[in-house]
Amino acid sequence: MLRSTKSTLYEKMGGDETIRAAVHDFCNRMLLDDRVNHHFIGINVDSLRKNMTTFFMSWALNGKPFDQFSLRKAHAGLNITSEEYNIAVKHMVESLRTCNVDLEDIARVEAYLRFIKPHIIHK
Ligand code: HEM
Repeated sequence: MLRSTKSTLYEKMGGDETIRAAVHDFCNRMLLDDRVNHHFIGINVDSLRKNMTTFFMSWALNGKPFDQFSLRKAHAGLNITSEEYNIAVKHMVESLRTCNVDLEDIARVEAYLRFIKPHIIHK
């Protein structure tokens, strides 16, 4: 059986290029979705894309534990609901599929998004 020699999720997913493309696509989907796009009014989306990309890259590269405090702070006052968060997760899964990320790796991202959910919703 052939085994992947790529060790980190970052490498498996396709590195900078794939993660950047997936976050870009994810942000576009969120901005086009009337159920959630009201949260982004007046937000610097270019900077958001950049910071979200860094966030995912550092996790995928070395499993760097997320900074719980920064995540809570970034979403403070937005009052994102559980339903809105689930919409975001679905968009992220679609974006990863579009970028040809393996199903196994998509499942890992999805699990991570479920794990950080309590630090983002209802803040
Ligand atoms: C899916 C999981 C999510 C992750 C990993 C995530 C990650 C982040 C990160 C790292 C930032 C900080 C960016 C910065 O400092 O510029 C941020 C900001 C932000 N996020 Fe999220 N987020 C998620 C879900 C959501 C959802 C569901 C919404 C809204 C429906 C949302 C709306 C925002 C907004 C509006 C900001 C900018 C806040 C500001 O600049 O005042 N996020 N997010």
